[in-house]
Amino acid sequence: MARSKSSSRWLREHFQDPYVKKAHQQGYRARSAFKLEELLTKTPLIRSGMWVVDLGAAPGGWSQIAARFCTARGRVFALDILAMDALEYVENVQGDFTQPEVYEQFCALIRERALAENRTGERLIDGVLSDMAPNMSGTLAVDQARSMVLSELAFQFACETLKTGGFWVCKIFQGEGSDALLKQARAAFKKVTVRKPDASRARSREVYWVAEGFKSLSTGS
Ligand SMILES: C[S@@+](CC[C@H](N)C(=O)[O-])C[C@H]1O[C@@H](n2cnc3c(N)ncnc32)[C@H](O)[C@@H]1O
Repeated sequence: MARSKSSSRWLREHFQDPYVKKAHQQGYRARSAFKLEELLTKTPLIRSGMWVVDLGAAPGGWSQIAARFCTARGRVFALDILAMDALEYVENVQGDFTQPEVYEQFCALIRERALAENRTGERLIDGVLSDMAPNMSGTLAVDQARSMVLSELAFQFACETLKTGGFWVCKIFQGEGSDALLKQARAAFKKVTVRKPDASRARSREVYWVAEGFKSLSTGS
């Protein structure tokens, strides 16, 4: 079957991409690992012993980086709609995060692990990462709305689970709805920095928000 122009371009770019080659050489599951690595080099957020959530985790590049910083003393809780192969120090849940029962099941797993490890407190999470992105339809308004739903949900989850002082790192597609969410994030965190890592393709509208110092229990809504 003939390939479309855009899929041929994607394949050509993919195989020539230096980050794809580097990921392969260094044993990372995805080139996106280098985005998180760069964000964490600029803002060191994850320390040994932390509990970190990774939303939209498959195939696992960000989880690999996060687990390396959390070490055996900490834990990564990873969630994706797609299946993901196991990784050391990473607990995996497969499900659609927009579904309330999946959201609840994920929260319940974290509470269960906390109980088993005698971790006390209402708030158990040191940091929330979200690289979630919808399947792109090619219609800008639809894709923007779908990606904002995922970013808003990641923000809501961060506000419900983070310890005071915690962090949130989130992929954002700049456009309709992103300014309003940035305003809420700036109210809930001491500092929010907008970054475009080198590994993020120049033509992509994605940026990453690095929010530090969670201060509020309210979602600001
Ligand atoms: C850019 S990829 C993440 C790559 C990942 N950070 C890594 O380093 O391997 C975006 C992910 O978001 C996931 N995703 C999209 N919608 C989702 C949803 N509703 N619930 C959970 N995951 C979702 C996709 O399945 C996809 O794996």
